[in-house]
Amino acid sequence: MILQGKVVLVTGAARRIGRTIALAFAAKGSRLAVHYHTSVVDARRVVDAVKSISGAEADVFRADLEQAKGPEKLADAVARRFGGIDILINSASLYEKTPFALTTPADWDRHMAVNARAPFFLAQACAPYLRRMGEGIVINIADWSGLRPYADYGPYCASKAALLSVNKILARALAPEIRVNAILPGPVLLPEGMSEGEKKKISEATLLKRLGTPEAVARACLYLAHAADYSTGAELAVDGGRLIA
Ligand SMILES: NC(=O)c1ccc[n+]([C@@H]2O[C@H](COP(=O)([O-])OP(=O)(O)OC[C@H]3O[C@@H](n4cnc5c(N)ncnc54)[C@H](OP(=O)(O)O)[C@@H]3O)[C@@H](O)[C@H]2O)c1
Repeated sequence: MILQGKVVLVTGAARRIGRTIALAFAAKGSRLAVHYHTSVVDARRVVDAVKSISGAEADVFRADLEQAKGPEKLADAVARRFGGIDILINSASLYEKTPFALTTPADWDRHMAVNARAPFFLAQACAPYLRRMGEGIVINIADWSGLRPYADYGPYCASKAALLSVNKILARALAPEIRVNAILPGPVLLPEGMSEGEKKKISEATLLKRLGTPEAVARACLYLAHAADYSTGAELAVDGGRLIA
């Protein structure tokens, strides 16, 4: 797909990896719907950055994706503002440490709602807009730990495993007009406050012996949107080999 002028909705785009993805599409001349939940100041800064990179249209959209109606309201607001949606990138995510013995049903429900249910219903709500031009794209940002879970983040890992299933379900439901693919990042931006020792251990656990970058994830999104025209339902690891280490 030619990215120039296309409307790209990136969830969780105010900060960190989502922000980098949004700016990478801006550099290709795409119009940006910058979704945020609480980071309004950062989201507005992303809009300013998009405009200074390419002069393309951009706007902020607030939605709590834990709420059942959040995805539908978000899709409708974006389509009203831009007249359509060409690309949906599900990057927003909840990532909380939940030691096994302390995990509650509420922890489980929140992770499932934000990380698996919302991407499904956002794709459902965006589908009529994505189809309208005869070509549409959904990219789900999953996690290598969706395939190899760790014990202290059970609801998170289970929700990312569910997202990988959602990826295949959407690919089947939305074919042939819409291509749906997932990215499985490895360790890229570690939680704030992690010690240098812990960070070193995590990078040493990859085959490439280093952390990834948000730019590497963003380039994978550009590839799936622009070049991977015979891929749907696929999973692209951007993990320094962590999955097979
Ligand atoms: N960081 C990594 O190394 C890494 C590794 C593997 C996979 N990933 C995946 O890559 C993606 C981006 O990672 P990241 O580290 O940049 O993510 P992040 O900082 O943990 O979260 C991204 C955004 O999700 C939004 N969010 C959280 N709860 C929400 C809710 N209830 N409703 C709507 N939005 C909500 C937040 O928006 P506000 O700030 O506006 O509240 C947050 O800024 C995620 O899907 C993550 O699972 C990341």
